[in-house]
Order: sequence, then C-alpha cells, then structure tokens
Amino acid sequence: MTVSVIIGSQFGDEGKGKVTDFYAAEADMIVRFNGGNNAGHTIVVEGVTYKLHLMPSGAIQPNKHVVIGNGVVVDPGVLLGEMEELARAGHPITRLSVSDRAHLILSYHKLQDGIEEGLKGRLKAGTTMRGIGPTYQDKAARWGVRAGDLLDKDELRRKLDIVLPIKERVIRGLGGPEVEFDPSAVYEECMDHADRLGPYVEDTTVLINEAIEQGTSVLFEGAQGVLLDIDHGVYPFGTSSNVVTGAACTGAGVAPQVFDEVIGIVKAYLSRVGTGPVPTELEDGAGTHLQTVGKEFGATTGRPRRCGWLDLAMVRYSHMLCGFTGIALTKVDVLSGLPTVKVCTEYKARGRTLRVPPADMSIFAECEPQYIELDGWEDPGTDAWRRAAREGLGALPPNWRSYVEFVQEELGVPVAFVGVGPGRSETLDLR
Ligand code: GDP
Ligand code: IMO
Ligand code: MG
Repeated sequence: MTVSVIIGSQFGDEGKGKVTDFYAAEADMIVRFNGGNNAGHTIVVEGVTYKLHLMPSGAIQPNKHVVIGNGVVVDPGVLLGEMEELARAGHPITRLSVSDRAHLILSYHKLQDGIEEGLKGRLKAGTTMRGIGPTYQDKAARWGVRAGDLLDKDELRRKLDIVLPIKERVIRGLGGPEVEFDPSAVYEECMDHADRLGPYVEDTTVLINEAIEQGTSVLFEGAQGVLLDIDHGVYPFGTSSNVVTGAACTGAGVAPQVFDEVIGIVKAYLSRVGTGPVPTELEDGAGTHLQTVGKEFGATTGRPRRCGWLDLAMVRYSHMLCGFTGIALTKVDVLSGLPTVKVCTEYKARGRTLRVPPADMSIFAECEPQYIELDGWEDPGTDAWRRAAREGLGALPPNWRSYVEFVQEELGVPVAFVGVGPGRSETLDLR
C-alpha cells in the first residue's frame, strides 16, 4: 500500500494528468484536493485524448474510486457532464464520492469572475473565468454554498434567501449589471444538481482516512502548479487555492504522516497561461519551437501558452515547499532538435543572486536568469522514444541522458519518471 501525492512544480500544465493516470494503475482511490475546473488535465491512451477538469485523472483506469475532496470548488454541471462523457467513451465511473464540505461554483460566481477581471487592470491574473476566485472568496467569507447543503433542501432554501441578496449587492457594488437573483430560480438550479449529485455527496474525510487505515493505495492529484499557489506563488497573478503538498492535508483532511511519496512534476521547459513575469520566457525561435512542438495551448481555455527555458530556481523553491521524494520529468522529447538547451539555475536582480523566486513581483520582473548551456540532441524519432520507454535510458542519445542527470543532481531528487510523448505508454519508469 502506498499513499502518494502528485504536485505540479511550475505554472501548471506540467503533465499531471498523464502522470496521475500512469500512477493510478497501482492505486485504488484517486483524490483531487484543490482548485476546480480551472484545471485541464490531459490523458492520451491508445491515440484517444481525454481532457478532464474536475474528475480525478485516475478515471480512465478501470474500477477506481474517484474522490473530490473538501478543498475543491465544484461546478456541479461540469462534474456531471464529465461523468456522462466518460460513460459515453466507455469509461463509466464505478465509484465517485464528493465531499459534503466542498464549495459549489454557482452561476453568479462566474459572472463575478468576469467583472472582477475587468476591474483589476495590471493586477489581473488572466483567470480561466470559471468562477474559482469568487467561490473561494465566499468560502472565506463564510457565506458559500457547500455540496452538503444539497442534502437538506429546506435549509438550502433558507440559506439562499440570505446569501442571494448579499451577492446581488456585491455584484452591483462592483459595477456589474443590475442583477436581481430570483431565489426560486437559483434554488431550482441547486435542486437539479441535488437530484443528480446528491447520491455521491458524503463525508470524504472519514472515507479517505478509513481507506488509508485499511491499507488502500491512495493517490492525491494536485491541480495547478506551486508558482500559482495563493500564498507561495506569483501573487496576485496566481490562483485562489493552495497548491503545495500541505494543501492535500487541508483539502482532503489527512495528516501529513500519511504520505509515503511526493512526486513533483517538472516539465522539461516552462509554460505559462496568464499574466505576470516569467524570467526565462523566450520570444525567439527556441520559444516558437517549444510552443509548436510542445503543442502548448491551454487545455481549459485554448489560449496559447507562453514558453521559456526550464527554471530550476523555481523548481528548487517548489521542492523546498513540497518535499519531493521523486521527480517526474515530462515533455523531454519536445527539446529534441534544438542545438543547445539552456537551464536557469539562479537569478540576478538588483545586484544580488537569488536562488529562489522572490515574493515581490517588481523584483521578479527584473530577475535575470543565469543559464547553464547543455548540448542538444537530434530527435531520435517516435519509434526510438517508444523503444526507450520499454528498454530504459540506455536506448537514448547521450546528451539527452546528461540533461536528465543534470536536473537530478541540481535538485538532489531522483528522477522517477520521464515523459517522452503524450501517450500513457510513452513513459520511462525509472523507479
Ligand atoms: P496538466 O494540467 O499538468 O495535467 O497538463 P496539461 O494536460 O494541461 O498539459 C500537458 C500537455 O502535454 C498535454 O497536452 C499532454 O498530453 C502533453 N504531455 C504530457 N506529457 C508529455 C510528454 O512527456 N511529452 C509530450 N510530447 N507531451 C506530453
Ligand atoms: P492545471 O491543473 C495553468 C492560471 C490562470 C490565471 C491564474 C488564475 O491544468 O495545471 P483562476 O481561473 O484559477 O482564477 O486563474 O491561474 N491557472 C492555470 N494555469 N494550469 C492550470 O491548471 C491553471 N489553473 C489556473 O491562467 O493566470
Ligand atoms: Mg492543464
């Protein structure tokens, strides 16, 4: 029995979906613990692509118990839609549990997200417009609607009678439309969800802890990346939830001692959807190579992702916050064909050397990456990558191996997994 956590170490989109799907083969229960459908996790199995936003990425493996923890913000329509889509694609969910403590994203949260982004000027993060920030705001304000509220219809109606006039005032105060929420209409929206989602709502904190006690292998799947964390990330350009390993404790209700391993997902270069500084961002031919060969378009919004060289100052920081026991290095294949590959190991800013990103975004914007240059390698072709996936590192170009070893030594964490293509089988398992 193993209890593992998967964490994105950069700006999100590191390949958590693919890695979670791979590790899920050995797990019985897969748990999401943060974020919502701002996430877009891609899994490719035998040429078929699945994009999941709320459903844990273990859902494509047969007979898994998938769990949405209390730290997740749930758009009920999206979750139910994904469930139906998966069933149509031949992957019916056999067991789903949704935390009664998870907060619901309702239509007014999405409206508020758009209004707030329009007001924030240079402070805007370029959100996914899924209502994530406003739902976490309501949670902190303690007038949020939780999944558990769907189970007591009378109490839910009384709660909405208090909450909706508050939300009307908030939205009007923000200069939004002169909305008047009809409590009956919102109640009906909730009742529709209650009928369909209610049967899956339960106390997942007890469920997960009992499962661990009974020796179940549990895999916790993080969303986003550490640099988007509300406390430790690129505030105010990140997301509204915690992303670090500790978020699995608060967002699923488990003690830190339960984790046997923490896998940090490191994309072999950097990508970013949204605003704010990216010190290693490339605007030259190498950047175009990464963007086009890596097919870097947002899985949720379709926006092109900004691309840059791997930034190990960033990953060093993530490791400090998360305690990685292993690294999953993804998309190494995308670097093939570049004459040299650069890796940032630290920054210089205002006459100082910085080993990790600073809190102050004006200093971060001035950070000059200090690069190590490594020799590149020719693309050995899809067949060679596939052979390497079967036979291991030895079957690959020496410069490619040097790159993997360099990352491992700089971080002081073993590389446990290497991604050499989007498919499930395009994976080197070095454990
Ligand atoms: P996530 O949000 O961390 O799950 O990542 P996304 O799914 O948003 O973006 C990762 C993209 O890279 C997806 O299109 C994946 O199919 C793809 N991908 C994942 N691992 C690899 C890999 O090792 N090589 C290549 N070429 N593509 C990969
Ligand atoms: P996955 O799980 C990449 C970014 C948005 C924006 C900021 C705030 O697929 O890695 P939000 O909608 O959360 O209020 O947006 O965070 N962002 C992500 N970027 N991958 C994600 O998730 C992201 N989730 C949020 O682009 O800059
Ligand atoms: Mg993504």
